Amino acid sequence: MTSAKSVRVRAATEADRAAIVLLRETGFGMRYGPVELEEQGRLFPVERSLVAVDGDQVVGHTVDITMNVTVPGLQTVRACGVEGVAVAPTHRRRGILRALFTTQHARAAAEGLPLAILTASEATIYGRFGYETTIHDTVVRIDRRRAEFRATTPDPGGVTISTMEAAKSHLRQVYARWQQRTPGAQERPDAKWALLFADPDRNRDGATSLYVLLHADGYALYRRRYLDGRPTVVLWEMRAITTEAHAALWRVLLGMDLVDTVEATLAEDDPLPYLLTDPRAVTLTRRGDALWARVMDVPAALTARSYRHDLDAVVAVHDPFRDAGGTFALRVRDGIAACAPTSRTPDLTCDINVLGGLYFGAHRARDYARAHRISVTGPMVLDDFDAAFATERAPELGWFF
Ligand SMILES: CC(C)(COP(=O)(O)OP(=O)(O)OC[C@H]1O[C@@H](n2cnc3c(N)ncnc32)[C@H](O)[C@@H]1OP(=O)(O)O)[C@@H](O)C(=O)NCCC(=O)NCCS
Repeated sequence: MTSAKSVRVRAATEADRAAIVLLRETGFGMRYGPVELEEQGRLFPVERSLVAVDGDQVVGHTVDITMNVTVPGLQTVRACGVEGVAVAPTHRRRGILRALFTTQHARAAAEGLPLAILTASEATIYGRFGYETTIHDTVVRIDRRRAEFRATTPDPGGVTISTMEAAKSHLRQVYARWQQRTPGAQERPDAKWALLFADPDRNRDGATSLYVLLHADGYALYRRRYLDGRPTVVLWEMRAITTEAHAALWRVLLGMDLVDTVEATLAEDDPLPYLLTDPRAVTLTRRGDALWARVMDVPAALTARSYRHDLDAVVAVHDPFRDAGGTFALRVRDGIAACAPTSRTPDLTCDINVLGGLYFGAHRARDYARAHRISVTGPMVLDDFDAAFATERAPELGWFF
């Protein structure tokens, strides 16, 4: 077995590209097609990759790009979007991920990024690096034949079918409008659009290529397949800016002939069940974490979003991985926060993970307190803290990475 000492971390170069692809394919147990290779390379350029090398062998990899993400209050935060984390099965559990992350997070801090975000293959990996689940989604199955709309559900129409080619600019415009009003959603780069439009076979899992439904204020992309022997619509992505667009698109999806089941991934607070007379027509099949976040710079991150309640609290934050913690005075007036280091005695103590968990509004501070992950000097400060961080709606991930 090679010792960790023989492994070093360095910036990748063009010459590492093929080895990085091999490592990623081995780590994730899949093969990229040619379009994916090209667009993935454009999306996450090799100059942003860090590799761990053992002699001339690439045995570890991580990469990141800066993502502009909408936060509560609808401002934008610049986040370090981490992707492609893989260590060779020949070299696992000897500290290579830790070494890569140490370098990568020092770089993100030097670049002044207040937040780091990632999607996780396993929930047990990233907590130790200060990350916490920050956006959840739910997978539902809808028994289409039981799905009857309430009399109060609007039926505005206005939905058309389209080819992907003809829909491209409309999808981009709708997404941009939706992203700016949706906490958790990132701007979507050209290369990610190209990947969506190319619709690689690997995304299909035996289903058809994407069908397109358009509305002036929304769109739905879906596939058709047999699931457990039943004809099924699999909703791939719906973006609806208005409640009318949401209802209009769902009326088409749930009105489709020759379909028994509709499967969809929804935001936690999607109002779909409220549109129907029989809420049991919508069955929850999975609730999962869509995004993890780590606060990199407490004052910069906490002042980048807005708040729903005034607050005066001294917060002690523990960060064993990066030492970005400390004690901070957090003051909120009319939604706007000021945050600075202080020597005052803390009212409230937590690890840095909790701030990542609270950041987009997916969790409540009072629930962390019930789980002994926030400790407080008194209930008043917890009430204010909880009310300040609470958000109007559940966050939603814009695109998976
Ligand atoms: C996950 C992966 C990157 C870990 O790399 P690694 O070099 O073995 O990790 P390290 O040895 O640096 O481990 C760092 C810490 O994380 C822990 N850890 C690593 N992978 C873990 C896992 N899958 N589950 C639980 N803990 C894990 C280690 O025990 C270690 O803990 P400690 O520092 O508290 O003692 C690697 O196993 C891998 O490539 N897996 C397949 C691809 C994948 O899932 N990538 C992640 C994509 S989000």
